[in-house]
Amino acid sequence: MIIGVPRDPDPGERRVAATPTTVTQLVKLGYQVVVEPGAGAAASFSDESYADAGATVGDALAADIVFVINPPPVAQRDKLADGATLIGMLNPRLDPELVADLAGRPITALSMDAVPRISRAQSLDVLSSMANIAGYRAVVEAAHAFGRFFTGQVTAAGKVPPAKVLVAGAGVAGLAAIGTAGSLGAIVRATDPRPEVADQVKSLGGEYLPVEAADVEVSSTGYAKQMSDDYNDRATRLYAVQAGEVDIIITTALIPGRPAPRLITAGMVATMRPGSVIVDMAAANGGNVEGTVPGEVVVTANGVTIIGYTDLAGRLPAQASQLYGTNLVNLMKLMTPGKDGQLVLDFEDVVQRGITVVRDGELTWPPPAVAVSAAPPKASESSVNPDNSVKGEAVGSKRRLNTLTVVGAGATGLFLLTALAPAALRGHLTVFALAIVIGYYVIGKVHHALHTPLMSVTNAISGIIVVGAVLQLGDSQDLITVLSCAAILLASINVFGGFAVTRRMLAMFSRS
Ligand code: NAI
Repeated sequence: MIIGVPRDPDPGERRVAATPTTVTQLVKLGYQVVVEPGAGAAASFSDESYADAGATVGDALAADIVFVINPPPVAQRDKLADGATLIGMLNPRLDPELVADLAGRPITALSMDAVPRISRAQSLDVLSSMANIAGYRAVVEAAHAFGRFFTGQVTAAGKVPPAKVLVAGAGVAGLAAIGTAGSLGAIVRATDPRPEVADQVKSLGGEYLPVEAADVEVSSTGYAKQMSDDYNDRATRLYAVQAGEVDIIITTALIPGRPAPRLITAGMVATMRPGSVIVDMAAANGGNVEGTVPGEVVVTANGVTIIGYTDLAGRLPAQASQLYGTNLVNLMKLMTPGKDGQLVLDFEDVVQRGITVVRDGELTWPPPAVAVSAAPPKASESSVNPDNSVKGEAVGSKRRLNTLTVVGAGATGLFLLTALAPAALRGHLTVFALAIVIGYYVIGKVHHALHTPLMSVTNAISGIIVVGAVLQLGDSQDLITVLSCAAILLASINVFGGFAVTRRMLAMFSRS
């Protein structure tokens, strides 16, 4: 099949959906690639570089698969071939007219901004890859407009205090902004209704400001929900205090499919010091800040600069194109099981189902909801539905009875074993039984997030097992030698496996 990469008709869009590097990867998957002349020029990718990577320069809209950044205008849509597959950030949640138009065409449309936030799909998540770049760029724009140091300095000429930055919304963009502002030396604070992000904020050197309300949220989809009036009132008080203290505010609050929540009012902006800067990353969705003009920079009467750029990722076009192109390559790897240049759309796969807006002219939007693994366990039906409470109680007492039977049988068996065993074995059996009970509670009750530190404890235990088993190796009884060998093997797997996993995790954080 042929993949076409047209030039985005919007002169303000500098990104391109494939780079020479990703073209090479697509060719390896068995595809031919056609790039429109000048498609990558604004991102510094020349036609020659595409040709060197194995692409043809020509009419990209006639291809079997068309990669775009933004939804193509009608003139481009009309040129798509029957049966073509259009892949891009189509924004189907907020653009029902486009969805209706696409559904009226004999094509398949896949929206990269609808990739569900599950770990397996992270390599395709364009919202994350673009927001990461945009969060970085937001800080760079803020630093440019701020006109002062971010870092504090003590010089012979005097003391310069560090800039204070508040990041509202600690999602992907927010975390990137926290990391960037922190690395420039600013004091960074951040708030978000999802309390689970507190550790992430702290790990990037920021201070998490919680909003103490009843409906703080543990996310079930990887995204936030609309907050209650109580939450909003308390958050408003927090922002009002912070606006008077900080120099820079970066807002990234987003609830998918809804207009951006209004966090910063004109009154709060009026209390900020002259020279302060606000970057409203949600400008395209209505803005988190009163007074934001999408795509523009405005300076308020009291000298506060409000930046409403909606193309922050596109302001680093080469890297944004590279990451977006890689997201597309990862999608093609998923959808090209035979590595033969033939696209196969598998509706059993939640990721592919989740991004499909139209399949062969049939409307498939919206897809069924996908819960991410971080979803909090749902309350059992019996606890939320009073009609089921009697049934729930019966099931609960039956479970309790079963547990008691198992525990009782185990205790009796252990008692008999201890009574009949030789005296020397009795002490070992007691230690063994206690080890099982303590081990069960230590490992079973540890939160998933703490499994890595737990692994180092189990490594130490496995190390002791190896030492103990090595000491038993010379025993005259064959059974003891065999058991020792088995113990050494299993414990060594645990130790070396633990080291391997730790190495991989450390590699994720190390800068190459
Ligand atoms: P995300 O979904 O990862 O993060 C959004 C965060 O906002 C979440 O952590 C959520 O809990 C938080 N949030 C929701 N309601 C809130 C409230 N009332 N108060 C405080 N926080 C709240 O989204 P991501 O990918 O980080 O994007 C953030 C924003 O940046 C979006 O509006 C997105 O459209 C925008 N964006 C803008 C770009 C630009 O060029 N201006 C480029 C890329 C993204």
